[in-house]
Amino acid sequence: MLVIAHRGASAFAPENTIPAFKKALEMGASSIELDVHLSADGIPVVIHDFFLDKTTDGTGLVRSMNWQDLRRLDAGRSFPALPVCRIPSLEEVLALIPPEITLNIELKSISLFRENTADRVLNMLEQEKSSRQVVISSFNHRCLQEVRERDKEIRLGILTASDMINFTDYTESTGLNPWSLHPEASYLTKEYVDRAHQMGWKVFCWTVNTKEAAALVGSTGADGFFSDNPGLLDQ
Ligand code: G3P
Ligand code: MG
Repeated sequence: MLVIAHRGASAFAPENTIPAFKKALEMGASSIELDVHLSADGIPVVIHDFFLDKTTDGTGLVRSMNWQDLRRLDAGRSFPALPVCRIPSLEEVLALIPPEITLNIELKSISLFRENTADRVLNMLEQEKSSRQVVISSFNHRCLQEVRERDKEIRLGILTASDMINFTDYTESTGLNPWSLHPEASYLTKEYVDRAHQMGWKVFCWTVNTKEAAALVGSTGADGFFSDNPGLLDQ
C-alpha cells in the first residue's frame, strides 16, 4: 500500500511547512500531500485551514492577506521547540520536492469565494515544466471540474467526507474522469474498493495514523492512505 505523507510528515514537524516536507523526504516518502489556498493577491500558499488562527500566530482568513504579510507569520506553533518556520508558497515547495516524488495538491476552495485557485495552481505547474506526477484533489468538485476543463490528462482525486449512497453513479455523472477516489477512512469497505477498481479508479483514504487502522484499510484492498507518519508501515 502506498503511504502518502499527509501535509508532509506532519507527525514530526509543523504541517504543510518546509520542515514537514523535508522530513517526509528524509523518511523516504514517495508521495506527499499538501493543501493550497490563494492569498489575497492570488499567490498559491500551502496551509490547511481557511483561517490562520489554528496553525499560525495570525488571525482571520488566509485569503484576506497578501503573500508578503502571510510569509511573516509563524506557522510552527504546534512544535514550539523547533525553530520558527513560515507558511511556504506552492512555488517554494515545488522547488524543494524532487520531480520523482508524486505530489498530491489539494485545492482548498469554496464556491462562495469565487476564487480561481485551479487556474493559479495549473499556471504554476505549467511554469515548472517538470515531468513530475501530480494528483489534484479537492472536496470542491466544481473546482476539480475547472481543472479538468483546462487539462484533460491531469490526474484528479475526488475527495469525500461522507458515506455516499451511490458513489459510482455520482462520480460518473461529474464527467471528471478521476484517477482516484479519496474517501474518509471510516467509510471504506471492501465493496467500495472493489466497485472503484471495477470502474478503473484507485482508492486512497485519509487519514490513517495507527498500524491497526492501516491493517483495516489493507483488508479492504485500497491502494493506499494518507498518513501524518509516512513511515507507518516501515517498522
Ligand atoms: O487529501 C487527504 C486529506 O488531506 C483530506 O482532508 O482536511 O486533511 O485536507 P484534510
Ligand atoms: Mg489535505
